[in-house]
Amino acid sequence: MSISALCAAAFGAAEPLFIGAGPEAGSHPCIVRRRVVNDGRVVSAIWRVTGLGVFNPIVNGRDAAPGEVLLPGFTHFKKRRQEVSLDVTGLWLADPGATNEVSALATGGWWCDAISARAGGSWPAFRGALSLIYADGSRAEIATDESWQVSLDTPQQAAGIWEGEVYDSRIEPKNWRPAVVSREFDGEVSPRIGGGVVLRHDLRMEGGSFDLKAGETKIFDFGQNCAALPLLRVRGASGVKVSVRLAEMLNDGVEGHKCDGPAGSLYLANMRGLKAGFDYVCNGAGAWGYMPSETFFGYRYASVSADGPVEGHIASIPVSSVSRQMEHGYVTTGDENVNKLVSAARFGMLSNYLSVPTDCPQRNERLGWTGDTQVFSKTACYFADVADFLRKWTLDVRDSQASNGVVPTVAPPGPFGGGGPVAGWSDAVVIVPHRVWRYLGDERIVRENWGAMMRFVDYVASTGYAIETGGVLCDWLSFERLTVNQRIAWNKDAITPGHRSYQLFLNACHLLGDIRMMREMGRAVAGVATGDELARLARFEREAESRLLSGWFTPEGDLVPLFDGMQTPALFALKLSLGDRARISSRLVAAIRANGGRLSTGFLGTPLLCEVLSEIGEPRIAYSLLLERGFPGWLYTIDQGATTMWERWNSYTRERGFGDAGMNSFNHYAYGAVAAWLFEHAAGLSPGAEAGWRDFTVAPEPDERLGFCRAWLDAGRGKMVSEWRFTGEGSVAYRIVVPEGTSATVRLAGREPFVLGPGDHAF
Ligand code: BGC
Repeated sequence: MSISALCAAAFGAAEPLFIGAGPEAGSHPCIVRRRVVNDGRVVSAIWRVTGLGVFNPIVNGRDAAPGEVLLPGFTHFKKRRQEVSLDVTGLWLADPGATNEVSALATGGWWCDAISARAGGSWPAFRGALSLIYADGSRAEIATDESWQVSLDTPQQAAGIWEGEVYDSRIEPKNWRPAVVSREFDGEVSPRIGGGVVLRHDLRMEGGSFDLKAGETKIFDFGQNCAALPLLRVRGASGVKVSVRLAEMLNDGVEGHKCDGPAGSLYLANMRGLKAGFDYVCNGAGAWGYMPSETFFGYRYASVSADGPVEGHIASIPVSSVSRQMEHGYVTTGDENVNKLVSAARFGMLSNYLSVPTDCPQRNERLGWTGDTQVFSKTACYFADVADFLRKWTLDVRDSQASNGVVPTVAPPGPFGGGGPVAGWSDAVVIVPHRVWRYLGDERIVRENWGAMMRFVDYVASTGYAIETGGVLCDWLSFERLTVNQRIAWNKDAITPGHRSYQLFLNACHLLGDIRMMREMGRAVAGVATGDELARLARFEREAESRLLSGWFTPEGDLVPLFDGMQTPALFALKLSLGDRARISSRLVAAIRANGGRLSTGFLGTPLLCEVLSEIGEPRIAYSLLLERGFPGWLYTIDQGATTMWERWNSYTRERGFGDAGMNSFNHYAYGAVAAWLFEHAAGLSPGAEAGWRDFTVAPEPDERLGFCRAWLDAGRGKMVSEWRFTGEGSVAYRIVVPEGTSATVRLAGREPFVLGPGDHAF
């Protein structure tokens, strides 16, 4: 019996049913309602709600989940719905005999829309259980069932996550008829543990006013690319249609730049056929505020056009699963461009932590790619308390894990990805819990996922670390020999034996990394691992190491010639302490030099790059890469005008225009993972031997080219600060803040480590 069924049974109430307009209505939105007359004075009204598709819960015509959108969120279509408990007492007319109305708009998002191409469902439905408590202590339970009414006359004429919205403000619900019970879902309904999506009004961005004649278009620049919802105020004659389209970039109009329109128009080619916006039909009444709320978009620019005269205003409200309260850390430096890069990384997180951690918020993807998630997870832990958000997502991963333990490349499932295991993607099942445990001190995620991790490594180890999945991703989008991109990944003719060998090397590296993280967690988190599991992990570790050493290392401890000139294999060897450290370090440094002092890494190598350079005592090279203005490099992208990290360093260049529109997102957060290095190495703030921040380490790596660096973090124990500044003639002033109840081990260049107690310390 599900938890909600148990609750219902405990109160002697019927279990709520999913209700909607029935299969004939297809994915058309509907509204369901019911009147409730109080039997006495109501002192509490709690509404537990969920849906097959995105819904808006409404009590007496008012939003019952103010500040939130996109309930109940993205989960495995067949296996899980999240139920949200809303306290609606404040909206309830409490008097005995008063009539209240509960209703909900139900739409197809994440259920029967295009992003759910593999879903079991075909029509939207809503489910709610309302619990009223009267002043005398008696209760009433009102559950969704056939006694509710439904109407298809909703102003939302169409809505979907990728589809956007069509809203006709002339339409009022009518033609009410009995609601139809949906039996399309037979998975589990469980209480939401994280991943709600909030409107970030604190980040509101103004577009401006418009006064348009029929056929005119006006373009607005919000100044920041991010996931958001436009807020439109518009006045126009009844029936006039206003079209809002949203884009990340504008066409520059230069010949040969792969523009899809004249200079200054929206560049929409990289949306890969999505409408990227919404239509609003006026009703002739005065200025009306409207914000689509059954979808979301990724954009910086908007165009507004109309087929009749209209006037109004447009603003933009960012949406994210990271609320303002969750943000708990930031890093600022003496270099304006690096500061822009940090801001781009933060907006990448805000945009892509949206119900699930996504690859990008704009095109026809927005999916929980496991690789993208794991590479950014540490950075996210520095910026915000994402423990519950990522706990919820690891539940999606468990729901998506195959019975043999394989973790797919996308969770929850969507129209792209799946399959696996793929090194660096599937390993998210271990890496993400490890990051949350180590950097946020949350053990729950380890306990919740231990079984899934064991099933995964047991399977991978049982294949002898040699899984052949048909395709390869290797170090996705690198600039090295053996690079893999969308033209190579699944193309048998393009995949060389070198690619296959590289993929097997990365498989074994990731497995070894997983095992070490699991041994660390298994030893530290009391009772999580059995003795037998720990012994098995120790054996797997030896096997993985020997497989790596015999397969890809020379007897002298260097990497095999297959990897000559490449940075990423050396990064993994060093990260995992394989081979001869000195030789491989010089190989890495030489590979960077040979590439003109620039990186050549892709999705898996880039997040390791600066970190490993710091670990081998080469922070100056890490800084050189960070500050590099040429291609490829972080600041190269910033110089091209990026306000979020891009899928490619050169997704757009002023010199050559747009990259291939087939896969060109301007809000892909993976490369923003370098922000973690700024916290952990440049400023030097990291958790101590124990997970969490009771004892932490401050080991700054100052560099005069950055001039100044200040990181702060308040992960529930008070604000920690590490700051340094060059004060002239090469001397550095440090400031370290240690909160009450914590202590810091400080490591400064040229001094013995020492321990600092609570206080604000300067050196
Ligand atoms: C996604 C990526 C993902 C990759 C792997 C892309 O389409 O946007 O970020 O990791 O595919 O194949």
